[in-house]
Amino acid sequence: MDLLVAINKRHSVRAFKPDPVPQDILKKIVEGALRSPSASNSQPWEFAVVSGAKLEEIKQAYIESSTKMPVLDIPIPFQYPEPWLSRRAAVQAGVLEKLGVAREDKQKRAEWGQFGFKLWGAPSCIYIMIESAFHHADGGTNMWNLFDCGLVAQDIMLLATEHGLGTIPAIIPVLYPDIQRRVLDLPASKLMVLGIPIGYADDKNPANQFRTSREPLDKVARFYA
Ligand SMILES: Cc1cc2nc3c(=O)[nH]c(=O)nc-3n(C[C@H](O)[C@H](O)[C@H](O)COP(=O)(O)O)c2cc1C
Repeated sequence: MDLLVAINKRHSVRAFKPDPVPQDILKKIVEGALRSPSASNSQPWEFAVVSGAKLEEIKQAYIESSTKMPVLDIPIPFQYPEPWLSRRAAVQAGVLEKLGVAREDKQKRAEWGQFGFKLWGAPSCIYIMIESAFHHADGGTNMWNLFDCGLVAQDIMLLATEHGLGTIPAIIPVLYPDIQRRVLDLPASKLMVLGIPIGYADDKNPANQFRTSREPLDKVARFYA
């Protein structure tokens, strides 16, 4: 697949068919993405590729935890300043509009939120992790680890696109990382950065008709010569 075609075809999928993704395809995708660059070729990423009964157990535990305060390994800002706040709001409003859910319909919004804890029905999830000893080396926070994880995440999603699969990079799947560590028997030092639910997109679900916009090139880039 042409690279620009793949970049434009990829979008966040928020409804998946239950059809399982063959393990050999999941392996090819993660193996292909291992060529991603990283600072000093440190390759800080580790992956937990979870499907089947283990993923069901994680989804169920997330549903049961959904009223608790999240305890993220990698904190996110809850207050966004402008113009970033408006961009975030546009995504939330755009998805709900496609679903026909009114802003004031708290019940339907809560149900949609719960669907996120079920990873939007995805049959598999690729969790990207980093090791705490490196992330917090020298007593600080090594932000480049996260940068590197972003690179590998995009390569995973583009390779998935080439295999006809849908993905979504998401924080929701790592809101309660202790659950993954318990279910997958991982040490406390494995920090959960991001989840990438993966599967075949349910194109009939209106949530998947939503597309985000981008700022125009001349607003974000200057070319000097
Ligand atoms: C680090 C990261 C975390 C994200 N977390 C979520 C999430 O928790 N829930 C969600 O619905 N979308 C999440 N997204 C998806 C973004 O909303 C989406 O990438 C953005 O709106 C652009 O849309 P597109 O992916 O369809 O191009 C996340 C994206 C990134 C890169």
